[in-house]
Amino acid sequence: MEQPIGVIDSGVGGLTVLHELKRQLPKEKFIYLGDTLRCPYGPKQEHEVIQYTWEMVTHLMTFDIKMLVIACNTATALVINQLKEQLPIPVVGVIEPGARAAIKATKTNHVGIIGTENTIKSKAYETALKSIKPSLTTVGVACPKFVPLIESGQFTEPGALEIVKESLEFIKDHPNLDTLILGCTHYPIIQPLIEEVVGEQITVLSSAVETGFEVSTLLTFYNMYNSLEGKLEEPVILTTGSLNVFQHLKEEIFQLKSASLKQITLS
Ligand code: SIN
Repeated sequence: MEQPIGVIDSGVGGLTVLHELKRQLPKEKFIYLGDTLRCPYGPKQEHEVIQYTWEMVTHLMTFDIKMLVIACNTATALVINQLKEQLPIPVVGVIEPGARAAIKATKTNHVGIIGTENTIKSKAYETALKSIKPSLTTVGVACPKFVPLIESGQFTEPGALEIVKESLEFIKDHPNLDTLILGCTHYPIIQPLIEEVVGEQITVLSSAVETGFEVSTLLTFYNMYNSLEGKLEEPVILTTGSLNVFQHLKEEIFQLKSASLKQITLS
């Protein structure tokens, strides 16, 4: 099936997932939509996140996508059940894959989750983790300063490390914690800073790799692989906001140099 796979996020963070999908599935076509204009979704009202997510999905459905990847933890936490029920295509979120990756990684059975206010409040990670392994100890903490730091492009400036240190103070109170889930797809962009702060005894992981495995499994299950031979197509990246941070990240960090980038308006 030649149709593209749709990927949505509130902004640039989902590029961490798109990058991994492209690496695992080079023959697939991808169309990405980041709602940068209305980012962050983390502190928004639930009904706003639901409305904005549906607007993105409705737009991508006009491209005849064969599968939807919600590369945004906040939207996954609040909207995935509705999307799974109402869309005629398979829908993949990032929370269950992230939970599976953490269960594989932890040895002490003590897992931390950092994410946006909405994701942490929803307890979606705790539910996913404990449904697989009820004996786990978990702690979830919101880091509301991270998404604005990343979307503004200021994460490379000297003050960024201080912000990360302050936000991760809670780690000191959990000496047994050995695995930290980056429960927001923006956070892998500052993963080196997070790793510097938490130290090497804690495994820091995102859901991108495991989400790629899930997409592959579903493509096989539904017999949806793009089996056509020919030139590999670069992803199409759409944003409702400024092109600047996308331009920098797609080229400098995600090796998506040839991906096309376009600004759009959602209604
Ligand atoms: C946000 O928009 O606040 C972050 C997106 C995410 O939760 O992954």
